[in-house]
Amino acid sequence: MSTGTSGDYWKDRALPSVFKHDLLKRYLAQFGGMLSGQSHDKRVVYLDGYAGEGRYENGEPASAELALRVASYFRARHGVTVEGFFTEAQARSFQRLQDVVEGYRRQGVVAHARRGEVDGVLDSVVRRAAGRPLFLFLDPCGLVLPQDRLVDVLARQRPDKKPATELLMNFSMMAVWRLGGHVRSPKGNETSLRRFDEVCGGAWWREYFAEAAAPSAQAGAAEDAIEAVAAEYARRLARRTGMFVQSVPVSHAPHKRAVYRLVFATRSQYGLWVFGDTVARARAEWWKTLELQETREDPDALFSVASVLRPDPAVVEKGAGAARRARHGYPGRRGVAHPLPEWPSGSGADTWTGRFQKSTVRLCPCVRSDSHHVSYGPSSSSRSSTSAWSWSFSPQLVTISSGSKAPVSLRT
Ligand SMILES: C[S@@+](CC[C@H](N)C(=O)[O-])C[C@H]1O[C@@H](n2cnc3c(N)ncnc32)[C@H](O)[C@@H]1O
Repeated sequence: MSTGTSGDYWKDRALPSVFKHDLLKRYLAQFGGMLSGQSHDKRVVYLDGYAGEGRYENGEPASAELALRVASYFRARHGVTVEGFFTEAQARSFQRLQDVVEGYRRQGVVAHARRGEVDGVLDSVVRRAAGRPLFLFLDPCGLVLPQDRLVDVLARQRPDKKPATELLMNFSMMAVWRLGGHVRSPKGNETSLRRFDEVCGGAWWREYFAEAAAPSAQAGAAEDAIEAVAAEYARRLARRTGMFVQSVPVSHAPHKRAVYRLVFATRSQYGLWVFGDTVARARAEWWKTLELQETREDPDALFSVASVLRPDPAVVEKGAGAARRARHGYPGRRGVAHPLPEWPSGSGADTWTGRFQKSTVRLCPCVRSDSHHVSYGPSSSSRSSTSAWSWSFSPQLVTISSGSKAPVSLRT
């Protein structure tokens, strides 16, 4: 199984990375802003475990430089330290990464580039994060760390809600697809299968493909098996770590299956809610970039495919709301209890784009709304109690407040 990048990967940013990077930079900024107060020295620790080159050949920032920019911003504006660790196994990529990191170190950003396997630096990063919030970004080209290893860090070494520990991880659907093919093939590579057993924390996933490859299997069964494996992976990670786990599909084009899913884990309901909002914004960026690409490629076209295929967010929300009601019922307390719409693969329901206000309203059962003010509470009588949260928004700003906490404002 290949683990390095190939071909044109570092030439410029491909569409999946547009989504991934927009999500990463926005969420990391929120993480630093929200959680630095949990440490005594206003410091959060960040690990980009598969950092790559840090910057594309066309000069655009890749994951490492995006994090360094966030760190630089927090240092200058808020006196917050985002201490970054960036690991890369491949010599050539590491050389370039190191140059990028060095540029920011000279400006005073606290950052470390490490050549080698992420597994070898993980424990020292966790030690460095003692008493501080920790964000792990694991973005391999192929298979990620074994689930037992992740559980060891998340559930054993960092079991507490505070200081926070969060994970954003690339779960490669392409790798699952390839490995699925090995399951029933007489030429199936047992070493690769075992390696994926480790990633999944057991051989349970093989059964999905054994069924999918049976003569009686329906068309599309293998594709469904990939989705089912990804969903079960997330469920197991949630169960074994006690964290909330959400994953979102990332693809090259509308109506194309996901090349990977970004798996997010947190112990904070509010973090989950912020993640949902960030996903929506990153998805909007994905569509915008697709449309720009199309216009560049064919400036004379009457309309772009993206503009035709982009689903109507109102329809998507309606479907997502119904699916969630059927699955979970409504949240029992606080407006952020089930903040996320469902994100099945494919172009439809993964477009929760630009509907921040309406999503918020519809996802909360007991919302009172007039055109510009929305408030949430379990019932009108308990709304005045200290546990109630209230929401108000103008078209640009959403403010969430509870009786005992300072209001939080988010730009829409
Ligand atoms: C998908 S690329 C990273 C992209 C980067 N995170 C970004 O978004 O800009 C994955 C990188 O991980 C590196 N890599 C693969 N296995 C690794 C390991 N075990 N430890 C550290 N780096 C590894 C590869 O050489 C490759 O550069």
